[in-house]
Amino acid sequence: MEVPPSPRPAMTRARARVPVTGAPTGDVPAPFAHNAEYEFARILDFYGIDWQYEPRTFPLRYDRGHVTEAFSPDFYLPDLSLYVELTTLKPGLTAEKNRKMRLLQELYPGTNIIMLKKQDYLRLLTKYGYGPMQPGQVPDIDRVLVTTGRLQKRVAELGAQISHDYTGKDPVLVGVLRGVICFIGDLMRNISLPTVVDFMSISSYDGNGSAAVRILKDLDENIKGRDVILVEDIVDTGMTLNHLVDYLNTKKPASIKVCTLLDKRARRIVNVPLGYVGFEISDEFVVGYGLDFHQRFRNLPFIAVLKHEMLP
Ligand code: IMP
Ligand code: MG
Repeated sequence: MEVPPSPRPAMTRARARVPVTGAPTGDVPAPFAHNAEYEFARILDFYGIDWQYEPRTFPLRYDRGHVTEAFSPDFYLPDLSLYVELTTLKPGLTAEKNRKMRLLQELYPGTNIIMLKKQDYLRLLTKYGYGPMQPGQVPDIDRVLVTTGRLQKRVAELGAQISHDYTGKDPVLVGVLRGVICFIGDLMRNISLPTVVDFMSISSYDGNGSAAVRILKDLDENIKGRDVILVEDIVDTGMTLNHLVDYLNTKKPASIKVCTLLDKRARRIVNVPLGYVGFEISDEFVVGYGLDFHQRFRNLPFIAVLKHEMLP
C-alpha cells in the first residue's frame, strides 16, 4: 500500500530575512570572525541549541607529512552531531568551499556537515524549533525584537519597582484586553503586595476618525478611592489610553498610573504620562507576547517585528 506524502506547511520563497535576536551587531565579539557567525550563535542560544565554535580542523591534503590544506567548519552542534559552515560569500568562493566540503566527506565518512546560506538559517530554525510557531508562520516574522529572556527580566524589574512604590497600599491592576494578557499575567506574579486584578475590553477606533472608543466590558470592581494601575500592552498614538484614563477618572479613584510594556513614542499624538515603561520601541508593527495581527501571533513567547509586506 502506498503511503501518501505527509502534508508540508508551505514555506514562502527567498524573501525571508534572517531573524536576529536583539540589538544590531555592530562590533563582533571574540571568537567570531564576522557578524553572521555571531548572529547565528545568538540564534542558537535563543533556541537552546548547544554549539561549539570552530572546535576542529580537518586536514584535507598532506605533502611529505605536512598538512597543506585543511578545513575548520564554523560550528559544531553536538545535539545534532552536525558541523555547520556559514557562508555569506560570493558564488565563486562558495564553489571553493563546496569543493573542500566534498573532500572532507570523502576523507571523513560519516561526518555530517552542511553549508548554510543566509536564507537557510530560516529553514534550520523551523526544523529545530522556532518557539510555538508553525513553519508557515516563520516567513511572516521579520525578526525577534525582544527575546523571552529580556521580557522576563524587565517585567520582574517593573514588578519590583511597583512593589516598592506602592508599599503599604493594595493597588488595583486594570488590564485592557486582549493584548495585555501575557504582560499582566507575568507582572502580577512579580508584585509582592496584596493586589486586585480587573479587566476592561474596548472597541478600537474604526479608522475614519469619527468613532469614539466604546467600552465593551466595564470594570467589575469599584475603584472609588483605590490606587489604580492601568496596564497596557503598547501605547502607540495614545488615543486609547487618553480616553481610558479620562473614563477611569470619572470613577474617582485615589490615583491612576499607567504601566505599559511597550512605548512607541515616535507615533504619539496624545501625550498621556506613563508611570512605568518596559521598552521604548521604534515605529514598527510588533506581535507576540499577547500582541496580535488579525488575532494571530499572540502566543509567541517573544516580541517580534512583522514583515512590512504583511501590513496593508
Ligand atoms: P493607540 O490608541 O494608538 O495608542 O493604540 C494602542 C492599541 O493599538 C494597543 O493597545 C494595541 O491594541 C494596538 N497596537 C498599536 N500598535 C501595535 C503593534 O505594533 N502591534 C499590535 N498592536 C498594536
Ligand atoms: Mg490594546
